[in-house]
Amino acid sequence: MTDAPISRRIQRVLEIGAPLFALFERTERLVRELGADACDFLAGNPQEMAIPEYVETIHRYTDPKDAAWFAYKMSEEVAQEAAASSLRDRLGIPFQAEDIAMTNAAIAAIAVAVRVVADDGDEIVIVTPPHFLYEPLIVAAGATAVRVPVDAETLDLDVDAIAAALTPRTRAIIVNTPHNPTGTIYRSETLARLADVLTAASKRRPIYLLSDEAYNRIVFDGREFASPAAFYPNTMVLYSYGKQLLAPGERIGYIALAPDMPDRETMRIALVAGQLATGYSFPNAILQYALPELEGISVDVELIQRRRDRMVAALRDAGYELHVPEATFYLLPRSPLQDDGDFCDLLAEERILVMPGAMLEQPGYFRISLTASDDMIERSLPGFARALKRATG
Ligand SMILES: Cc1ncc(COP(=O)(O)O)c(C=O)c1O
Repeated sequence: MTDAPISRRIQRVLEIGAPLFALFERTERLVRELGADACDFLAGNPQEMAIPEYVETIHRYTDPKDAAWFAYKMSEEVAQEAAASSLRDRLGIPFQAEDIAMTNAAIAAIAVAVRVVADDGDEIVIVTPPHFLYEPLIVAAGATAVRVPVDAETLDLDVDAIAAALTPRTRAIIVNTPHNPTGTIYRSETLARLADVLTAASKRRPIYLLSDEAYNRIVFDGREFASPAAFYPNTMVLYSYGKQLLAPGERIGYIALAPDMPDRETMRIALVAGQLATGYSFPNAILQYALPELEGISVDVELIQRRRDRMVAALRDAGYELHVPEATFYLLPRSPLQDDGDFCDLLAEERILVMPGAMLEQPGYFRISLTASDDMIERSLPGFARALKRATG
């Protein structure tokens, strides 16, 4: 607690975020100190120059074509059409352009969706390990986060535990598939069982499923991705182009209402109100104009898959325990030391920066981001092996 005139909600966000803020400060310092020598596997940031086609596309839309080019924009029709058409093609679900609210990436989409559905004191179920901003966004909206861990063995959703966590105050559940940091794509059978549980519990008042699908195009081994929107009508798909384009600072994404959502017309208007009340959380005009072209651009998923395979094999050879993720940018090895923070410090001495599991609510593990370059990966492998030897020897 502080005596400064700060709202209780933001004081609570500061409390929740304190360890993370400390980690960010420490990391920034380490990156500054290590400079070009650092092998940065930390936050899923790009470690190579941006995709040339992406840069070239953005350039083409920066020159104004009319007087209103840089006027206030909400959701631009051209962007809504591009997003809806892509969702229809990829998921086989008849999403409508008017049901897409363009946002500045997934974090704004989550903030707006939570604010639109939850009242003060409502509960939002989050599956753990969660994205680090879920709880701050929920708290800032006046609601409470209720945690349900994934099944520790299978890394699948624990639908029985979710059912047990639902109360008359439950307003929504955030499901992240493919899941950061486990890399699991939830199966259709699991999503169907979840839909049955939510439908039964929605008799009193609807429970919304907020489907965080930031990685739904970063999928390996030719696997199928299934969206919860195919199973549960009260679903909002939350998307970010930041992963697909590996440009998380260029913020664009959306909220897409499932086409069979009841009261969809009311929800559309509520989302506009929610976006206005969440600090005008519409994306930059240029990114919206460019979206029909950006839709077709992507990081090389096969290259990321090859990096996954290279690192999984090399780390296992060195003696690490880790599973093979089905999707996303992340590996999640077990920490050889009980305190994963201590082990991450050992890795930092080898100039390797990774995310401690404790920061992700996954103690005993650490997270490696595959957005590193091939050169970084190769340079890091002897250091990973040395750190493990020091920890266990
Ligand atoms: C699961 C998940 N959801 C949401 C986000 C936020 O994405 P953005 O920063 O593009 O809004 C991330 C980014 O790391 C993520 O991993």
